[in-house]
Amino acid sequence: PFEIVVANRDITVQVPVGETALHALARAGIDVMFSCEQGVCGACVTGVIEGEPDHRDQYLTEADRARNDCFTPCCSRSRTPRLVIEI
Ligand code: FES
Repeated sequence: PFEIVVANRDITVQVPVGETALHALARAGIDVMFSCEQGVCGACVTGVIEGEPDHRDQYLTEADRARNDCFTPCCSRSRTPRLVIEI
């Protein structure tokens, strides 16, 4: 489990094991655009400000990952207890 803070909306969402970040955000009323929900299309790519995503997609390149400034909430999780994002 980890938490996501949506910095620009002042909202914190808990993401339990078994729920995607995308669904947890939707539960909190935050709609992120998405399509494949499998980490392939890139539609859901969201900005990361703080924390380290646990990338589980096949969309972001190594360079994208190295910048540590975005993740795919449809399938990726977090290596840090908290991920601060901007939508
Ligand atoms: Fe396609 Fe997330 S919805 S990569």
